[in-house]
Amino acid sequence: MSENQVNVLERKPVILIIVTLLVILIGSVVTALLPFFMEGMEVKISTVRPYTALELEGRDIYMREGCNNCHTQTVRPLRDEVLRYGEFSKSGEFAYDHPFLWGSKRTGPDLARIGGKYPDSWHVQHMTDPRSLVKESNMPAYAFMATTPLDPSNIKSKMGALRTVGVPYTDEEIAAAPELLAGKTEMDAMVAYLQVLGTMINKAAVETVVDSATVSPVVPDSLVTTPETEVK
Ligand code: HEC
Repeated sequence: MSENQVNVLERKPVILIIVTLLVILIGSVVTALLPFFMEGMEVKISTVRPYTALELEGRDIYMREGCNNCHTQTVRPLRDEVLRYGEFSKSGEFAYDHPFLWGSKRTGPDLARIGGKYPDSWHVQHMTDPRSLVKESNMPAYAFMATTPLDPSNIKSKMGALRTVGVPYTDEEIAAAPELLAGKTEMDAMVAYLQVLGTMINKAAVETVVDSATVSPVVPDSLVTTPETEVK
């Protein structure tokens, strides 16, 4: 642009605003919108699978009770977090979380890697009476869960709804779901959900450098599957 042309633009504020907005719009589309449609942006982890019917019910109870108001579900790639909670969270681990429950408040500890940390019986005892295990805990007791049977009437429509947003449940899995919930309590579902949290990645394949000041947020090749080998 010659100096003359620039001056013309600067002397016409309305046109200048329109041109500026256009430039910002193009920038936003390129940097924010396009990545949504790029294959490589979605990191696939071959071992991450959709939740079973029981785990899904547990997840819904977790949301209903507002556990995510006190607990986060994401370990950030920071040294202290990795030392305390374990491997930092990878985006691919949340592929089937609708909605994700990362949270933003840690009244209690992060739960992204809680699966396998305690036996089932610990969770039952802790949910029934948190202060019997951690004296100073301010977590509410959820003893009623052990005596509340699950309601299997909605599970098929829940799984169907998740399928419409990309969770690969098969017709057989959906048909078999109510049967799997028969005779189970809310406590069974809650514990099944807690026990699977953070366990779907192959921990041996993750090489986190905890010695350096920061932890590399790079996902190692061994964890990433190409779109051709993605899980069904
Ligand atoms: C008012 C805040 C609050 C709410 C709501 C809450 N928690 Fe907690 N939770 C805590 C606190 C504080 C701790 C740490 C002390 C303890 O272990 O009881 C904790 C600990 C835990 C632990 C043990 C974590 C560990 O690594 O030792 C689990 C599991 C847990 N909560 C699950 C849940 C679930 C599931 C729900 C919802 C049904 C829930 N919490 C709701 C505050 C809360």
